[in-house]
Amino acid sequence: MVLKKDFLWGGAIAANQAEGAYKEDGKGLSLVDILPAGEERREALFNPEVALSKEYSHYPSHEAIDFYHTYQEDIKHFAEMGFKVFRTSISWPRIFPKGDEAEPNEKGLEFYDQLFDECRKYGIEPLVTLNHFDTPLYLIEEYGGWRNRKLVGFYERYAKVVLDRYKDKVKYWLTFNEINMLLHIPFFGGGLIIKDDENANQVKYQAAHHQLVASSLATKAAKEINGENFMIGCMLAAAEIYPYTCHPDDMLKSVKENQKQYFFIDVQSRGEYPSYTNRLFRELNVKIEMEPSDEALLKAYPVDFISFSYYSSRLTSADPEVNKKSTSGNAFKSLKNPYLQASDWGWQIDPIGLRVTMNQLYDRYQKPLFIVENGLGAVDELTADGTVEDDYRIEYMREHLKQMIEAVDDGVDLIGYTSWGCIDLVSAGTGEMKKRYGFIYVDRDNEGNGTSERYKKKSFYWYKEVIETNGECL
Ligand code: BG6
Repeated sequence: MVLKKDFLWGGAIAANQAEGAYKEDGKGLSLVDILPAGEERREALFNPEVALSKEYSHYPSHEAIDFYHTYQEDIKHFAEMGFKVFRTSISWPRIFPKGDEAEPNEKGLEFYDQLFDECRKYGIEPLVTLNHFDTPLYLIEEYGGWRNRKLVGFYERYAKVVLDRYKDKVKYWLTFNEINMLLHIPFFGGGLIIKDDENANQVKYQAAHHQLVASSLATKAAKEINGENFMIGCMLAAAEIYPYTCHPDDMLKSVKENQKQYFFIDVQSRGEYPSYTNRLFRELNVKIEMEPSDEALLKAYPVDFISFSYYSSRLTSADPEVNKKSTSGNAFKSLKNPYLQASDWGWQIDPIGLRVTMNQLYDRYQKPLFIVENGLGAVDELTADGTVEDDYRIEYMREHLKQMIEAVDDGVDLIGYTSWGCIDLVSAGTGEMKKRYGFIYVDRDNEGNGTSERYKKKSFYWYKEVIETNGECL
């Protein structure tokens, strides 16, 4: 058996894409609560001032899949599949509705007490993200989001409260979801609204510094509260960026593009700014403002493990003309790889890229890895007898899991695997329900209509067997 006996199999969701109950029990608004669905969402994400000034007809996060009220039934389904781990996030504005209060919202804390107790009832280990694209809206409107150093203090207060409160219920924590998203969709990642006359790179990298410091402060708090009983991880939207051709210029471009994505993890794992940032920042005209204690803090409190999402590899070319032909995929543009198929949403499918990415990450950091997102967003049809024949999803996952096991056989130390959207939820990028990832179908459509009933898909039974056999049936 290649995988460890206690390998953590499971699934992942995020508060803002599942819970709904967007104002219940004292919750404040987060940045996602002002985002619509479909084409308008794209516009709002890249031009958030528009979203702030507009009234949309439908806000998918407001009800999402109503997980706030259905979590017991949903976790029971996860337990039936044999989950050992369940990744979710805590909604920051449920705990601090505006973000800058001195005292937390007790009702919000109680919800997560119940949620984590419910997981533990079935022996499921919660894996908890502190900030998954849902910075409190007030912190954006009042303070300018993560460009403002004050957010470090607000985040630290929030982190301390939840780390302390759930110290006997949660062992695995992630400080920021896909921290490198900040460079690609700055509003999602950092609540940033960047003006046309600003140096966007300066704003983004300064906000990144604030998050890196905040991440180390959370790690410090975690160690003080619960010592080695906590495992703190970073989280990268990972994807090896291949050169478009074997031309040395393309290879160099790929090295440089990979450094840009690894930058965050280089700091979070090695505890210092990598030497390539000297040149990068000089060329981008970026100057990071630091406080005197920042460097020592980053060095003293690196993460314990490296978690990441993987959906696709990417391709880059040094030729600007070639680069113009990029295709879609998550928030990241890529050239079309002629050797790969793509999903209905144009995301290229590359299982071997997962093995490549795992080898690269492990070689670079020599810390345990945790795959905390992977999966296929697809259109599903509910059959008359209440299931979905999602062989395409099974095929996608089977090929990725086989490559994951190959990587472990290559020598990579892997803690676990949580598939993304183990129950259908609202898409982060498009706000659609139609883009489904789950083993469990949720009867809701893009406009929020439907019964919200849950149905087990074919992949539900398939994944159950994968877990039962610890991957041996693949
Ligand atoms: C990751 C995010 O970027 O990709 C998730 O961490 C997101 O929140 C997932 O849902 C899939 O993206 P999408 O746009 O299909 O929901």
